Amino acid sequence: MKGNFVYHNPVKLFFGKGAIKDLTEELARYGKTAQLVYGGGSVKKNGIYDAVVSVLKECGKTIVEDGGVMPNPTTDKLAEGVKIAREHGVDFILAVGGGSVCDYAKAVSVSVHCDEDPWEKYYIRFEEPTCEIVPVGCVLTMVGTGSEMNAGSVITNHHTHLKIGHVFGSEVMPKFAVLDPEYTYSVPRRQMVAGIYDAFNHICEQYFSGDDDNVTDDLCEALMKSLVKNSRVALRDPRNYEARSNIMWAATWALNTLLAQGKDTDWEVHMLGQAVGAYTDATHGMTLSAVSLPYYRHILPYGLPKFKRFAVEVWGVEEKGTDRQIAEMGLEKLHDWMKELGVATNISELGATEEMIEGIADATLVMDGGYRVLTRPEIVKILRESL
Ligand code: NZQ
Ligand code: ZN
Repeated sequence: MKGNFVYHNPVKLFFGKGAIKDLTEELARYGKTAQLVYGGGSVKKNGIYDAVVSVLKECGKTIVEDGGVMPNPTTDKLAEGVKIAREHGVDFILAVGGGSVCDYAKAVSVSVHCDEDPWEKYYIRFEEPTCEIVPVGCVLTMVGTGSEMNAGSVITNHHTHLKIGHVFGSEVMPKFAVLDPEYTYSVPRRQMVAGIYDAFNHICEQYFSGDDDNVTDDLCEALMKSLVKNSRVALRDPRNYEARSNIMWAATWALNTLLAQGKDTDWEVHMLGQAVGAYTDATHGMTLSAVSLPYYRHILPYGLPKFKRFAVEVWGVEEKGTDRQIAEMGLEKLHDWMKELGVATNISELGATEEMIEGIADATLVMDGGYRVLTRPEIVKILRESL
């Protein structure tokens, strides 16, 4: 293990069929006025909204509506949510949706009592909140981001073409999260596979880094194998509870701060994907899948032992040939699985064009925890190969 760490994840989880009903005791801990945050309307069609409203009413809460959170929530919507929260003096925020809704709720929570421009403070200067934070709870309806059990919050600024995530301290994590796998049955197939790839890539970002033998790498391999196995079942049979619940639980563990302890982490695929997202507003998981293979092929020589281990341990590649051949076979297997899922394998299909490449490269943050710190020409090369 590298370095010392303090591990503290305070999110209380309610997992399983009908788990929303177990929330009454928890809700009693918070004040009377709830800001009910949700997306574009899926929760009204699938009955989740009614179930949540019913439990809030049972607990005597006053509901302040804040719907219409878009995928890849924006600074403009954040300003709207802050205004609603201030006008109604809300006591807590209940996010009912996927990563976008959860991330947005966290951004509102640290902005309600903040005197400065939240975008500048949190997403440009990466400062921690110095004001009171409104507590957030989360009812997850779409699996992938891990937002339900982490302090990440990604906001898009269309005025400046930037999509930036801030990983706050644990005080910004949701206080509780409801994870009912049945809530994910109505997620459209395209979103389901994007979410599965997102979770898988969160693991990759923490796996393809470091050259020690870290317990995290063993955990990563188990989670990756589980996601691949269960994704195949879910593709055939989307209402398979075992598969959907395994995917939900694995995705939460993929990004709830556990894997990142005691080792370096990469996150460059996310930086490339977020920059593509800032220009195209494409689905997050698809932006990741579209840049992954050109990026991993590029860094493979710098992290050869881990790429070989990935091939053998995750994909069962036979140890025949050179290390390089075995490692490359692992990426081929990853490519095959991406095709099975039907996720994007290039950024052109997401709306990116050659003319955008320089701008996307400008918007790509360079991380230094992976096998290679990318130079500007390398970023441009990877983006061109992703077109
Ligand atoms: O808006 P509605 O109508 O609810 O529809 C949503 C949305 O269109 C739909 N959906 C969600 N649950 C559904 C459902 N449709 C039917 N039935 C359900 N049960 O799915 C669509 C996508 O939802 P969204 O929340 O945008 O997806 P996701 O969970 O992938 O979140 C993406 C956002 O999270 C950020 C991404 O950058 C992106 O902005 N991320 C957050 C992270 C974090 N907090 O740590 C890490 C991730 O790497 C990621 O960057
Ligand atoms: Zn992600």
